[in-house]
Formats: sequence, C-alpha cells, structure tokens
Amino acid sequence: MDNRVYVFDTTLRDGEQVPGCQLNTIEKIEVARKLEALGVDVIEAGFPVSSPGDFKSVVEISKAVCEPTICALTRAVEKDIEVAADALKYARKKRIHTGIGTSYFHIYQKLKSTPEEIIERAKAAVKYAKRFVEDVEFYAEDAGRSDNEYLARVVEAVIGAGATVINIPDTTGYCLPSEYGEKIKYLMENVSNIDKAILSTHCHNDLGMATANSMAGLINGARQVEVTMNGIGERAGNTALEEIAMILKSRPHLNLTTGIHTENIYDTSRLVSRLMRMPIQPNKAIVGRNAFAHSSGIHQDGVLKNRENYEIIDPKDVGINESSIVLTARSGRAALKHHLDMLNIEMDGDELNDVYGKFIKLADSKKDITDEDLFVLAGVKRATLGRRIKLEHLQVLCGQSTIPMATVTLNIDGESITSSATGNGPVDAAFAAVKQVIQKKVVLEEFLIQAITRGSNDLGKVHVQIENKGSLYYGFSANTDIVTASVEAFIDAISKIR
Ligand code: KIV
Ligand code: ZN
Repeated sequence: MDNRVYVFDTTLRDGEQVPGCQLNTIEKIEVARKLEALGVDVIEAGFPVSSPGDFKSVVEISKAVCEPTICALTRAVEKDIEVAADALKYARKKRIHTGIGTSYFHIYQKLKSTPEEIIERAKAAVKYAKRFVEDVEFYAEDAGRSDNEYLARVVEAVIGAGATVINIPDTTGYCLPSEYGEKIKYLMENVSNIDKAILSTHCHNDLGMATANSMAGLINGARQVEVTMNGIGERAGNTALEEIAMILKSRPHLNLTTGIHTENIYDTSRLVSRLMRMPIQPNKAIVGRNAFAHSSGIHQDGVLKNRENYEIIDPKDVGINESSIVLTARSGRAALKHHLDMLNIEMDGDELNDVYGKFIKLADSKKDITDEDLFVLAGVKRATLGRRIKLEHLQVLCGQSTIPMATVTLNIDGESITSSATGNGPVDAAFAAVKQVIQKKVVLEEFLIQAITRGSNDLGKVHVQIENKGSLYYGFSANTDIVTASVEAFIDAISKIR
C-alpha cells in the first residue's frame, strides 16, 4: 500500500466557518499561497454556491495557486455542482467535493429520505460532477455516526459512479479513535472496489479527539487527511494540520509521509491566526506560545543539558528558532545561568549562588522576571538599548471621520523622547509612534486583548508577542484603558530585546 498521505487543507472552507473569522478574497489568496509553500496537496477554497464572495474566492485562488489541487464544496445538488465547476474554471488541478448525509439522523430527520434514495442521490451527484471534472471527492456526512454496513454500500456505489476520493467525516466529533479506526478498516475490507479510490479522514474536535481519530484512520488505511491550520473550524474545530504533520514526522516507524515542509508551519500558523483574528491558546500543541517553553527547574536543567531530554520535536523543524527557558520561581541555577550567559554576564560558584538566592525571592513575588531585573540582581548597569523604557505620556486622537493619531513620550534611561504617528486605529498609531522612538525593527506577531470580567469598566489584559532579528519577545500589561494597556505591553516586550 502507498505510504504517502495526502494533506487536504480546509482552513479556507471548514475553518472559515468560525463565526467572526471570515476573510476577504485578498486575505484568502495570501493564506492559499502560504499553504502552497507549506506543501499541502489540496486546498478546499470554498463553497461557491453559498455566496458571491465564496465563488469569487474560489476563482481567484484558482488563478493564484499552481501546485495544489483546488477543491470546491457542493451539496448533492446539480446547481451547486454547476456553480462549483464554473468557479474552478481557472484551476490547473481541480476537484469537486460533493456529498450527502448517511447517518440515521441525516437520512430520516434532516433529509426526510430513505437509505435507498440517499444512495441514488449520492451516485447521481458524483456522476453529474464527473461531467465537469475528473477528480471527484464524495463525503458521507455524519459518517462517524453512520452504520458501517450501510456506509460500505454507499462508498461502493459512489466509487462505481466515478468518485476518486471518499471522505468519511466524523461531522459531530463523536467517534472514539478505536471506533473511527475500525470504520476505516471495515471499509478497506468490505468495499469491493476500494482499490479504485482513496479514503479520507475528516474529524471534528468536539470531544478533543480529532487528531487521535484522524491518526486511527490513517493507521487503518486512509491516505488523505482533512485538516485546518491551528485546528480552527466550526464549534471545537477540525484536526490540526500541524499536529498530523509533526506526528508523522516524529513517528517514522508508522511509515507514513506527507509533502509538508514543516519548517513553514509556524509562519503559516501565525498568518492564519492574525488574519482570522483567532488567538492561539498558549498551550496549543506545536504552535502555542508555550509549546517549546520550559519553566520548571528540573525540565530546564534537562533541556539545557540536552534538548531531547524534554523535547520530542526540534523547534527548528516547525520554524521556531529556539526553545525558551522561562524564568519563574521554579527555575534552577542552570536556567538562571543560561539567561545570564545570554546577557553576557559571566557568573559561577558563590557569586551565582548569591544572585540565585535574590532571584528566587524576587520570582516569588513577581510573575515575569525581565532581563532588566537580572541586570539589577547581578549588579550590572545596562548600557545598550534593551534598557529601562518607561511610558511617560500617551495621547490618542480617534473616532468617526478622524484619522487615528497617537503621541507617545518614552523615557529611555532617563531621557524623554516624543514621537507622533498615524495608523489604522489608536493602537496601531501608538505602536507606530513607539517604533519611531525606539528605532528598532520589530514585527508584531501576536496581539491579544482579554477582559477579565464582562463589564465595560473592566481591566483589559493585553498580551503581545513581537519579533526582532529572528527572536520572539513577549509582553504583558493590564489597565482599564485598553490603548494604554496595549502600549505598555508592547513596551514590555520591546524592553526584553537583547
Ligand atoms: O464535517 C463535515 O461533515 C463536513 C463535510 C461538508 C465535508 O465538513
Ligand atoms: Zn467538517
């Protein structure tokens, strides 16, 4: 059996169904190009009949992307299929993805139909799609809750009608990995013409089992996996692309490979998060801010001796420069020494013990130990920029029919410097003014505002992550004034630049 797993990315279709995360066509093209560079095999670009915007996006993505197959979703309805075929007219490689529900719930309650009629409609949809494209994928919606014997009959019928790929969605994220794996195995063993098509997994994450289910499907014979970047998607989301790619890379004994250039994962993940305005949870596998951050003393010591003691993935393999050793009250001497070394402060023996004692006391009362704190603890005066930066003054002008403008005064090592800038909002303008003052090239990688409770008088917490010369720096602040909190968090991150 072929061991190549085809990666079908549905970030721009199933992923985009997240409320409030819709992208415009330009943004979708940017994501599609990034997915192409990542090495996905298929990009599901939209559901063309659903809206003129979706239609246009499929057309434009088809023009913009060369390597991956471009796929368009339809129901088992002739009009949908015609519109999808039209939207795909510029695609170099094209696929129509059509289908219908096959579970008891869908057949009787949603479609008000019968099992036999569903088989006829499924065959007819595949045959109709074949008039327009060679490559037709069929989805058996709610396959996760469909009876396996019946599902096998549907799959056999649609392969007979010309389907090249058969998608077995666990639409409601209900299956256990053992059940989903069994389902794929059952189809592999009981569909007489299964050698004429490939089975595809499409698992939702309602019970947190999407990746485990997809893996069970692949291990049992599926050779396409449907995924989204960062696992985004309806409700609890879909299987995360980065998780499958890294599982297959780090478990070579499974003998399953993808065409994913894993070193592009982090960049792609950030782009999707930024454009969709969907922050990534800090502990998200592979791409979360803490995925390669070590905070306990035992782990830090182990990682500093040999990364593999506590890391199964080299962060460089996913495009992250280095693991981070976060200084907390649980850090040991090894971690402290590592940070001091990075600040070019050489220290050993009694001197290190002494600073370590002071460090532990400070870390007990302060969540985030900065480089500046270390300089003070080590009795070193900082000379370079990376120094003490304080926000002295912030004024913003914004509102309807006003170009947002901000003036900031920063105090850098005792010297006050003022600058003004405009932007597309008050925070953007204030960040631009701060950048003018510090004169360093920083890229905002993550910007997250959270209210602690729900009232408008609430404290706003702001987390930012910035990039400077390939390294990431994290900043935090809380304030009832959200623009001030944002600027303080930005400055907090900037002041950590080495
Ligand atoms: O989850 C699902 O069943 C789907 C199909 C439309 C493929 O997204
Ligand atoms: Zn889905």
